[in-house]
Amino acid sequence: MVHVTGWYKAAEAKDVPQGTMKGVEVGGTKVLLTHGSSGIRAFEDRCGHMSAPMSIGTFKGGVIKCALHAAVFDAETGAVRGQPQMHMDGAAKLPPELMEAMMKMGQIMAQIRCDPMRPFPVAVESGSIMVYV
Ligand code: FES
Repeated sequence: MVHVTGWYKAAEAKDVPQGTMKGVEVGGTKVLLTHGSSGIRAFEDRCGHMSAPMSIGTFKGGVIKCALHAAVFDAETGAVRGQPQMHMDGAAKLPPELMEAMMKMGQIMAQIRCDPMRPFPVAVESGSIMVYV
């Protein structure tokens, strides 16, 4: 299917109350809707680090946190507010071979840049959230 760029209905505004976020698919694109203190925003539902879906993360205090490595993004702009974390609880108890593999993975992951989340234009019309994708 060919994607046609344009305005699409993403959700009913009542389904994204203030303080919540919701992942939706709009015109074949996965979109994350957030409803913060200054209104509804839309972003590509993809972490700027390693592409985990941000809709399985958390939204609190004006920031969105990735569920995979805890990178933090501004829920208004998508800007990076906190870098990914490589720390793993209980890692000290791992067998040495596994610990070494984890350290190598951490060194590789430290080279991966964390980009901002990609915002989409959004508008609320007659109770519907419209997103331009
Ligand atoms: S994929 Fe989101 S912080 Fe790594």
